[in-house]
Amino acid sequence: MKEVFVILFKLGLRPWILALAIILAFISASLEGISIGLLIPLFNGLIGTDFKFIENIKSLKPVLKLLPENVASHNSGIFALLILLILILIIFKNISYYFSAISVLHQVRSFANKLRKTIYNRYLSFGKLFFDRNNIGSLHQILVTNTDQIARELYLLQNHLYSFFTLFVYLVMMLIISFKLTAIVLLAFPFLYYGLKWIMSKIENASLFYATSYLKMGNKISDALGCIPLVKAYSNEQDERELFAGISDSVEKIEFNIDKKRTLINPIQEVIVFIVVLLLIAWIAFFYLKEHSNTFAGYMVFLLILRRSMSVFGSFNNMKSSFAYLKGPLAEVNKILGDDEKHFIYNGKKIFAGLKDKIEFVSVSFSYMQEISALDKISFSVEKGSVVALVGQTGSGKTTLINLLMRFYEVTSGQILINGVSISEYTLSSLRAQIALVSQETYLFNDSLRSNLIYGLKNIPKESVLIDILKKSRLYDFVRKLPDGLESTLGDKGVKLSGGEKQRVSIARAMLKNAEILILDEATSSLDSETEKLIQEALDELIKNKTVIVIAHRLSTVKNADKIIVLEKGKIIEEGSLTELVNNKERFYDFWEAQRF
Ligand SMILES: Nc1ncnc2c1ncn2[C@@H]1O[C@H](COP(=O)(O)OP(=O)(O)O)[C@@H](O)[C@H]1O
Ligand SMILES: [Mg+2]
Repeated sequence: MKEVFVILFKLGLRPWILALAIILAFISASLEGISIGLLIPLFNGLIGTDFKFIENIKSLKPVLKLLPENVASHNSGIFALLILLILILIIFKNISYYFSAISVLHQVRSFANKLRKTIYNRYLSFGKLFFDRNNIGSLHQILVTNTDQIARELYLLQNHLYSFFTLFVYLVMMLIISFKLTAIVLLAFPFLYYGLKWIMSKIENASLFYATSYLKMGNKISDALGCIPLVKAYSNEQDERELFAGISDSVEKIEFNIDKKRTLINPIQEVIVFIVVLLLIAWIAFFYLKEHSNTFAGYMVFLLILRRSMSVFGSFNNMKSSFAYLKGPLAEVNKILGDDEKHFIYNGKKIFAGLKDKIEFVSVSFSYMQEISALDKISFSVEKGSVVALVGQTGSGKTTLINLLMRFYEVTSGQILINGVSISEYTLSSLRAQIALVSQETYLFNDSLRSNLIYGLKNIPKESVLIDILKKSRLYDFVRKLPDGLESTLGDKGVKLSGGEKQRVSIARAMLKNAEILILDEATSSLDSETEKLIQEALDELIKNKTVIVIAHRLSTVKNADKIIVLEKGKIIEEGSLTELVNNKERFYDFWEAQRF
């Protein structure tokens, strides 16, 4: 319960709207109480077929005075007045109930909306390491399903609020009618309280389970659907079906388990309260009525209130089961709202305006996981306007070096300097604005080719510029053959493009970004010689007048480099120009001979 309010306040809950809801709920409950209270004189009048005694009731006297003399002196006039009063009270009660409910719902809806936006914004702010360690399916599940579950339970809050005040008003009325009977009723409450508390704790436990199994389900869905070609290639549909069915079945079991407990609450309450009502009826019949027959109407109303308070108590208690049920989803949401394990990247303050002399790696070490080091004391520099090629077997740490320069991850120790300033001192946006990255993998939205090309650009390029870039990136002929040209959609993750086309889209993007530092992570997959030629031409256009760091897998790229750095197991083992390294006859020479980088 505390967690709910912590989140509510974090997200700017407006106290005055809640206060309004509470006041209106209180007014509504009071009006209900008074209208029921009016039943006592009504019943009494009906039993005695005389309403004159009402003139002696202090609180009703002023109302009676409002009536003309000749109406107020008639039984039927007073009867009509009572009925009318009750009707008016009920109408006002419902009006205030409505506005109380609307104020709460308004808060709940805006809370759910803010929660969704907050979680989404937080996702975007987390470091890449967070995404390495969390599954997209479960993150999706938290954003969509858990926030909805929380909103749905909070939605019931207005009911609970109203129930709470109604119970309070009922209690006051019962005390006014008969202190003794009320005391007897209250004796039953500890039984109710502890009985229900026991069920609540069961629901809480089940809810935690529920939330985690829901995440598991989200995990499985995104995994299997994300790897559909693999599933199909191995004809593994049956296994996947069974795996999913297993998870889905366990979700059903947990859900039904919670249902069983929640549904148990009302019957237990009803039986306990009904036993109390029956005992009271017997008590009234045997001990009271003989002597105090004039209070009969009061007892009737007492029993009526008791019967009503039973259902109100039920819905009030549901509040606890709501909060119990919320426990799991809230725990997941809270994990996202907390700052642990988010691997935030520190945003510097300086504006990076452009490369003046060089990029320097100074004794840079990094590990993705503790203990296992991916890079070990790497030092080298890239002069402005030069091309530096990184060479080494897969897993030697080449991509990692680039991830650090892009500040996808924070270095574990050492520094990367640009213009003699650590890159962590620059703002992330000004740093990344000056670097164009062509990564091994091309990330494509399921959108048009045009939107994919101009994604993230501050200025939308002119059509002529776009055409020029298409020609330079050797995409022009391809685009001309597309039925909708640049407006053609690329499909999920760009399935409609071949590997070579994706690479050229990536190159075109980098050309459009026109940053002075260029990072190229050449794709390892070999392409046919025709496509290879196209890409080589596109790359030659791209690297003109740029400072380039390239992870090289091609002979031609290595030949163009001013400096070659050879990495092995996270360490630099050789460094120099092509001729130097070939003459050295060390590891690079082996690569060179085998033509694999
Ligand atoms: N996101 C990651 N989480 C954990 N380990 C990683 C991650 N990315 C790469 N590694 C590990 O770091 C080492 C260097 O990887 P990488 O830089 O991708 O090599 P290269 O690009 O030279 O093939 C490898 O041992 C790899 O398993
Ligand atoms: Mg790599």
